[in-house]
Amino acid sequence: MVHSNVADYRESARRYLPDFAWSYLEGGAEDAVTMRRNRAAYEAIAFAPQVLVDVSRISTQTTLAGNPAAWPAVIGPTGLNGLYCRGAEETLARAAHAAGLPFALSTASTSLLEDVRAASDGDLWLQLYVQQDRRIAEDIMARAQAARFSTLLLTVDTPVTGQRDHYARTGFTLPLRWTPTLLWDIARHPRWLATVGVHGVPQLVNLARSAQLGPGIEAQAAALGRQMDTSLDWRDIAWLRRHWHGKIFIKGIQTAADAASAFAHEADGVVLSNHGGRQLDGAQSPLDILAHTASIAPRGADILVDGGIRRGSDIAKAVALGARGVLLGRAPLYGLAANGGDGVRGVLALLRNELDICMRLLGCTSMAALTADRLATHAAPLNVTTTTPA
Ligand code: GLV
Repeated sequence: MVHSNVADYRESARRYLPDFAWSYLEGGAEDAVTMRRNRAAYEAIAFAPQVLVDVSRISTQTTLAGNPAAWPAVIGPTGLNGLYCRGAEETLARAAHAAGLPFALSTASTSLLEDVRAASDGDLWLQLYVQQDRRIAEDIMARAQAARFSTLLLTVDTPVTGQRDHYARTGFTLPLRWTPTLLWDIARHPRWLATVGVHGVPQLVNLARSAQLGPGIEAQAAALGRQMDTSLDWRDIAWLRRHWHGKIFIKGIQTAADAASAFAHEADGVVLSNHGGRQLDGAQSPLDILAHTASIAPRGADILVDGGIRRGSDIAKAVALGARGVLLGRAPLYGLAANGGDGVRGVLALLRNELDICMRLLGCTSMAALTADRLATHAAPLNVTTTTPA
C-alpha cells in the first residue's frame, strides 16, 4: 500500500493489528468526544498566508527543553508499544534520533530504558507515573539519569485510567485472558501473530525492574494501575526536583490556571494534553487554552501540546498559537505497526515535509516567524468532519 500521508499508515496499522491492539492504540475514552474535539480544533483553524516572501531558504530548526531539534516535534510517550512491533521503543528512539527529534519513553514501556539508551545516542526524555511506593519512581529517575535522559515529563492526568469501553468489547485486559473472542481476533491476524504474538505478551520491564517485580504482566499491571499514587499534588514537584536534575515538564495540563500553577512551582514547561482523549471524555482540546497559556508563560518556559496531530500543518498551527513544539503519540505508532522502523521514519518524513511546504506557503522562513499573524481571525466556521473516527 502507498503511504502518502499519516492516514495511509493508520489504515495499514488497522489492518495489521488484532482488534484488541488496534483499539488500545486508537481508542479514546467513553464516546471519544474529546478525541474528535482534538481533531476538530485543528480543522477549525484557518491560515492567513503571506505572499511574496522569499522562501527559497527556510529553517524548521528549534530548541525543545533547551536542546536543539530539527523541527518542533517529539515522539511522545505511549505505553505497551511492544504490542505493535518487537523492540518497539528502541525502534522509535532510533527513528526520532535520525530525524533530529527527542524521544520520550513511557514508564509503561516494554523495553528497558538502558536498552533504549544503548540503541540511540539521541535526546531521550522520561515520562513518569508515580506509584504509592515512591521508591519506584525514585529508582526509575536514578536509572534514567545514569542513562543520560535529559528531561522528565510528569504525567498528571491519570490518577485513574479513563473509562475505555473498547477494552470490554475486544477483551483487552492485563494480563491478557485467552478468551474465544481474543483467540479468534488473533487467528484473523496471522501476520501479527507470526511477527509479534509468537513472542508472548510484552512486559512492563522498566517498571518491573524499579519495583523489583519478576516477570509476569499481572503484578506489573497492578503496580502501574491500582498502585498509582492518587495523592500526588503540587507540593510533590519539590520532591521531584530533589531527584531529577534536568528539566521537568508537567504533562496533562488542561487549563491555563493549572499551567500558571506549574510555572509558579517552577516547572520548566508544560505539556497541554488531554492524553489523546483517552482519559476524561468531554475535556476541552489543548488548542483551546494554548494562546492564553502562551500569554502567561514566563520567559524561557516551554509549552508543548499534543492530541490529534496528523499533518505538518497541524504542527504549524500549534506553533503559531504559541507552542514550542508538539508531542506525536498515535502518528508514529501507526508507522511502527504498519512497517516497523521504516514506517516510523516514513511518518516523520511526511510530517516534516508537510511542515516545510506549509511554512513556505505561509511565507514563514523560521519557527520564530510562525506567529498568530499567520492565522485567520475571521474565517467562516467549518462544518468539521473528523479524519480520525473513534
Ligand atoms: C496510557 O497512558 C494509555 O493511555 O493507555
